[in-house]
Amino acid sequence: MVKIIIKNLKFWYGKKQVLDDINLLIENKKITALIGPSGCGKSTLLRCMNRMNDLISSSKIEGNLIYNNKDIHKDYEDVSILRKQIGMVFQKPNPFPMSIFENVSYGLRAAGIKDKEILKKIVEESLKRADLWDEVKDRLDSSAFSLSGGQQQRLCITRALAINPDVILLDEPCSALDPIATAKIEKLLIKLKDEMTIIIVTHNMHQARRISDKTIYMLDGKVIEYSETKSLFVKPKNKLTKDYINGEFG
Ligand SMILES: Nc1ncnc2c1ncn2[C@@H]1O[C@H](COP(=O)(O)OP(=O)(O)OP(=O)(O)O)[C@@H](O)[C@H]1O
Ligand SMILES: [Mg+2]
Repeated sequence: MVKIIIKNLKFWYGKKQVLDDINLLIENKKITALIGPSGCGKSTLLRCMNRMNDLISSSKIEGNLIYNNKDIHKDYEDVSILRKQIGMVFQKPNPFPMSIFENVSYGLRAAGIKDKEILKKIVEESLKRADLWDEVKDRLDSSAFSLSGGQQQRLCITRALAINPDVILLDEPCSALDPIATAKIEKLLIKLKDEMTIIIVTHNMHQARRISDKTIYMLDGKVIEYSETKSLFVKPKNKLTKDYINGEFG
């Protein structure tokens, strides 16, 4: 099943075109990795999927991103409704300056849930889902900044999970983390894909190979290849993909 349809997508920052006629079918309940050299447009493409680029006034978009039979840019008047379904996690862990409990319950409280027991229950469930509960259960009222970097990133994933998203977008979520913290996040993402669609930008090709089902290789704002991960890395169809994964790029 297809989760997001991307049709003839083009994107500009001012006069500079950074996405050029992107066409992709993102599959449901799979992990899709987005790889390619720095500046090729990975983050821009990811941000188009939940309209994070809306905030950039000089930007222009053409084409369509279809989610749940709706055009992400045209049919969602209230972008917060879209972002409840399509959550995002960034490169640098960005917990809010508040307690661990308040971080996880933030989205729920923003949605008007005030009942303390309900909040407690969902916070616990979400932290358990993200395998973080045992590490934080005795310090839920401590500042989120008291956690290690890896824990902070898992807290950010937990915060995204608490509102029960259908899709999670992750932009290089492990690039600031050591291999052990990275392995925990990879294990978590593999577990979560039973329940949701995951799209991850990564510069780490080993990571893409380890966790993703499908891989998109981008170069200069274009999709060069989109295949099953194994086949993209073992038998790339395009010479440009081959050069990149063999480290012969540029
Ligand atoms: N807010 C912005 N305003 C103007 N240009 C931008 C903006 N954000 C990104 N760009 C430019 O758009 C192009 C694509 O950037 P993008 O961040 O999508 O690349 P990327 O593939 O994610 O790179 P990296 O791997 O370094 O994160 C780059 O040339 C970048 O300089
Ligand atoms: Mg980027």
